Amino acid sequence: LGDGANGKERTLAMIKPDGVSGNYTEEIKRIIVESSFSIVREMLTQLDNEKASAFYDEHSSRSFFPDLVTYMTSGPVLVMVLEKRDAVSDWRGLIGPTDAQKAKISHPHSIRALCGKDSQSNCVHGSDSTSSAEREIKFFFDDVLSGDIASQHDEL
Ligand code: PPS
Repeated sequence: LGDGANGKERTLAMIKPDGVSGNYTEEIKRIIVESSFSIVREMLTQLDNEKASAFYDEHSSRSFFPDLVTYMTSGPVLVMVLEKRDAVSDWRGLIGPTDAQKAKISHPHSIRALCGKDSQSNCVHGSDSTSSAEREIKFFFDDVLSGDIASQHDEL
């Protein structure tokens, strides 16, 4: 993905089923905008087993994988393409550690501390690298290109 011509970067953010059903969407989007991200695209979608398994393919050998897929298909998710300088690392910083229980102690102002419960029900997702961001943005938004073209703004 990398930096576009304007020095900005894109990442994939997702509000997971517990975040959507817990009515955290508006508060999370307010935090996103107040933290200087642009929401370039967004889509409310329901993952099925095939799509959730493909998205988390790198974790397919983990013992928690079946639980993760069941959880991620339990209700709608909101996927968003966020843009700003250093979007990937800044969004990861904003959401806090994977385990929301730990986040409440070590990162009390993080989004996972706000609305997560544990390592599975942790409210939000963020790409962990620029290459993951590129894959994950393409996974949900075929038409959002990377590289230099990433600096163009798409309409919502
Ligand atoms: S690890 O151990 O570093 O690979 O794990 P991590 O990258 O932090 O987590 C990968 C995703 O798996 C989810 N996860 C879990 N789901 C269910 N049960 C358990 N125990 C569990 N542990 C981790 C976690 O929420 C991560 O999802 P994303 O969407 O990538 O944050």
